[in-house]
Amino acid sequence: MACASFAKVGIASSHQRWIGGRQHRQKPLAPPRLAAGLPAARGGRSLQIRAGTYTEELVQTAKTIASPGRGILAIDESNATCGKRLASIGLDNNETSRQAYRQLLLTTPGLGEYISGAILFEETLYQSTTGGKKFVECLREENIVPGIKVDKGLVPLPGSNNESWCQGLDGLASRSAEYYKQGARFAKWRTVVSIPCGPSALAVKEAAWGLARYAAISQDNGLVPIVEPEILLDGDHPIERTLEVAEKVWSEVFFYLAENNVVFEGILLKPSMVTPGAEHKEKASPETIAKYTLTMLRRRVPPAVPGIMFLSGGQSEVEATLNLNAMNQNPNPWHVSFSYARALQNTVLKTWKGQPENVEAAQKALLIRAKANSLAQLGRYSAEGESEEAKKGMFVKGYTY
Ligand code: 13P
Repeated sequence: MACASFAKVGIASSHQRWIGGRQHRQKPLAPPRLAAGLPAARGGRSLQIRAGTYTEELVQTAKTIASPGRGILAIDESNATCGKRLASIGLDNNETSRQAYRQLLLTTPGLGEYISGAILFEETLYQSTTGGKKFVECLREENIVPGIKVDKGLVPLPGSNNESWCQGLDGLASRSAEYYKQGARFAKWRTVVSIPCGPSALAVKEAAWGLARYAAISQDNGLVPIVEPEILLDGDHPIERTLEVAEKVWSEVFFYLAENNVVFEGILLKPSMVTPGAEHKEKASPETIAKYTLTMLRRRVPPAVPGIMFLSGGQSEVEATLNLNAMNQNPNPWHVSFSYARALQNTVLKTWKGQPENVEAAQKALLIRAKANSLAQLGRYSAEGESEEAKKGMFVKGYTY
């Protein structure tokens, strides 16, 4: 298992290490939070590993979510954001409409063939269908792992260049324990980084530290953390600039994950794809996006991480699927898949229009998108026959989730 504390394995008892050719004395490292079961270290000594309460389960949950041909359905819109989705088809934003929409999505027959996890908003985690069946139960029947958005949203970051930070650490441990009891097995925390605003060193450090604290707390309470520093599409910069920022952000994120003794085998990542800024004069092909994104990931993400589950970030449904497909043309060290919200929901909403008689057609539309992304996860997708609606971009400047 890999995390900061893997450094402890095989270290001489004097706690001396060589850094840059000079010998440094170090304080003893904190005890590792790792599962047992690693082979004996060279020299015959077996590894002394203290497993965290949930470590084995976390590793298993992450593996289940990162299973071949499957990905995540993200429907964790806050009530305000869900309201925007509903307004786009002329519906009022109230609990009944939100329940009807989530019921449509979560009771789609056969969804579990393509979807391994569903991220829910707190309201949905505790909600039932109109027939009285808990949504969590509907998911379990399809072998889909229930997940929960745990962050409390973005607020301005004082001292930065008009950037934001993500709230939600206060009380997170007890909330997470409750979510686990309710059936959640993974969590999501989304923070954002803006390229046009800098990003400032302060904003990147804050984003990375917040994600790492959240990840450690989630693991301590049995939830696999999805680590999501979303690098926003906003801006007119070229793809090289996105690559540079993404490398910086992920290096800080892994530095602090390691500092917080997060077990890498028990996390999932939710990166943005490396693309040119949405307002850049040239668009990049799926092959170019795949090349830059995989370059960034190979440079920054250890192979111990089981799954990379991309966000769609305002790309059209077809674009997001084509880009994922391009990334799966050759074997990767990690499962490379999707955790889309907008790129799985757009056609569904437009087909449903809030009418009960359209529910079946809308569920079929969801299956079409889920299957397309499942094929893309396996590198076998072709955009032939895709609808015009699915090709429409969904980028919104300064989008808030
Ligand atoms: P999008 O796929 O719409 O970018 O969703 C992002 C997200 O974080 C949803 O959980």
